[in-house]
Amino acid sequence: MKTKRKGGSRGKIRVALIGAGSMANNVHYPSLAEFDDVELVGLCDLVPEKLENTAQRFGIRRTFNDFRAMLEATKPDAVYALMPPHHLFDVAMAVLQAGHDLFVEKPPALTSFQTECLAKAAADAGAVTGVGFQRRYHPLFVQCWNETRKHGPLHQVVATFYKNQEPARVHQYYRGAIDILTSDAIHAVDAMRYFAGGDVVSVASDVRKIDSWYNTCFNALVTFSTGATGVLLTNWRTGSRRLTLELHAPGASAFANADGLGEVWADNAKEPTLRLTHTEAAGSESGHVHQGFRAQARAFIDAVKTRRQPHNTIADAYKTMRLVDLIYQNAINVSQNGAHLKRTRQAAHV
Ligand SMILES: NC(=O)c1ccc[n+]([C@@H]2O[C@H](COP(=O)([O-])OP(=O)(O)OC[C@H]3O[C@@H](n4cnc5c(N)ncnc54)[C@H](O)[C@@H]3O)[C@@H](O)[C@H]2O)c1
Repeated sequence: MKTKRKGGSRGKIRVALIGAGSMANNVHYPSLAEFDDVELVGLCDLVPEKLENTAQRFGIRRTFNDFRAMLEATKPDAVYALMPPHHLFDVAMAVLQAGHDLFVEKPPALTSFQTECLAKAAADAGAVTGVGFQRRYHPLFVQCWNETRKHGPLHQVVATFYKNQEPARVHQYYRGAIDILTSDAIHAVDAMRYFAGGDVVSVASDVRKIDSWYNTCFNALVTFSTGATGVLLTNWRTGSRRLTLELHAPGASAFANADGLGEVWADNAKEPTLRLTHTEAAGSESGHVHQGFRAQARAFIDAVKTRRQPHNTIADAYKTMRLVDLIYQNAINVSQNGAHLKRTRQAAHV
């Protein structure tokens, strides 16, 4: 088990980067590049043009097309591995088994079992890990959460995620390498779980296909050991993209849109106690800041330095992956013409 504080002679955390794709360039590397205590020591990608462009943009001197060679040559404190989930497992496992701290995007793997294997490897290596569930760090959500919690523990959390995606013969998520809920609607599952707190006690759910041969709609009613009830509403056949959060405590309620307004109302007052937009909460118009990516990167780097895990570890992400499993397992499946096909209920301890 590693307990030593990390950081080179100049106190900088040496980070090696695997993947020069869109999330890397749009949100993760811009976040890391803003930190004085981080040094980007190497970049690896399989596509030469992406590798060169990204290295040039972030001033990364050493580039590689084999991540194992990069780890060997740069001996980083921590690694960011940012690639589609069906390409990630072997890379993430190799990084952890080589003893490096690791940040990955969501979902951390294709299945909860793979996620559990990665969590065990991280524990065996004493590695700090982080998973890209940036809504936990979203400045507007966090401010609304803190204001609402002043009134007492949350008793109800509603997380919604809506998209408008045209039905397609070929599945839109990597041709079907992964489903919508595990790959993307999982953001709302994780936000509901994180803000409600505690362990999952029971799950009732409704999983449906709308206009499509694959599931597009995932709704759930989840009870948590904190006493909070979680309501999940996610649907990829709606009019427009929205991700929202409602948080309710005794006498207080937050209503927040990840890309818009957040308000906290209490005690039937005529004015909200808090009212601001996502950019006002972040003090920035940059997406990597107002959507929580920079705060998430800061928490990961601080965890690497102090050896105290962040809350969004791979082990914690495993609990969200298990909740995804239970949403499928406990669903009242209804066919497109409305006939009930199956109704199951299982003990739902995550
Ligand atoms: N948090 C969010 O809001 C959010 C949003 C979109 C996507 N994502 C997640 O981000 C992850 C990455 O998505 P993306 O759109 O940035 O992907 P991308 O396809 O744009 O980039 C991935 C890059 O990884 C490289 N790569 C793949 N295997 C490699 C290997 N073995 N060694 C080196 N390089 C390798 C590819 O060449 C590519 O350049 C996915 O897991 C996705 O689910 C998260």
